[in-house]
Amino acid sequence: VIVVTGASSGIGAATARLAHRRGARLVLAARREERLRALAETLTNCLVVRTDVTKDDERHHLVDAAVREFGQVDVLVNNAGCGLHVPLEEVDLDAFREVFELNVIAPLALMQLVIPIMRAQGGGAIVNLSSQLSRTALPGVGAYAATKAALNILSETAREELAADGIVVSNVLPATTNTDFYLALRQATPRPDRAAMYAAGDSVEAVAAAVLDLAESGAAETVLLQHDR
Ligand SMILES: NC(=O)c1ccc[n+]([C@@H]2O[C@H](COP(=O)([O-])OP(=O)(O)OC[C@H]3O[C@@H](n4cnc5c(N)ncnc54)[C@H](OP(=O)(O)O)[C@@H]3O)[C@@H](O)[C@H]2O)c1
Repeated sequence: VIVVTGASSGIGAATARLAHRRGARLVLAARREERLRALAETLTNCLVVRTDVTKDDERHHLVDAAVREFGQVDVLVNNAGCGLHVPLEEVDLDAFREVFELNVIAPLALMQLVIPIMRAQGGGAIVNLSSQLSRTALPGVGAYAATKAALNILSETAREELAADGIVVSNVLPATTNTDFYLALRQATPRPDRAAMYAAGDSVEAVAAAVLDLAESGAAETVLLQHDR
């Protein structure tokens, strides 16, 4: 039973499609319910829960609904996220708080909700979607990169804290990946000297495979290689 946040597009939708092919039962979460329902129509054993992951009551509803439907949560994929692509001097602080809420607080809160369930069932896996930008100082994306760097250390610490419970916590660090998110990044940070960085990126299928392989292997992280960089 896999809960995927941000399943309405991009990497999250691809992860849901691949997990379905690998035989998982799925819980799809995002705000655009009609997109989730369209995806669910192509899958079986699939629950749609319209969720704004920044809202505490909606997070509780998501996890409660998953347990009510399937009786367990084996994997949580914390994929919902968004960017903030302006030079640091121009970062609107309220916008940064909002992105931090989505990219850092929400994944932590969802981890907190599934940990007791996974502990009681004898184990589980949590995969958090970070970014290679969390490990590089790239002008124009520092605020976004900071949220992913925060997520990295939360994942790494949770991994240590939960090992004895059989709960593995992993990080995926994609390079640029062909999604709506990536198009926004490309438009916001036109840097000719970094053209290769914004060259056509990984496929969503490659990132989805990395996510699910980590959930199965329990390895600490996967840094996706971008072959054309
Ligand atoms: N694409 C890249 O180049 C790249 C590289 C490295 C890391 N990443 C990371 O990969 C993850 C997925 O991004 P993507 O590239 O697949 O982008 P995307 O296509 O824009 O998908 C983002 C997803 O997050 C969901 N979301 C946003 N705000 C939400 C909220 N408040 N509550 C619930 N869901 C919310 C969106 O669904 P709704 O709008 O329907 O809610 C959407 O399904 C993100 O964490 C991103 O930081 C992407």
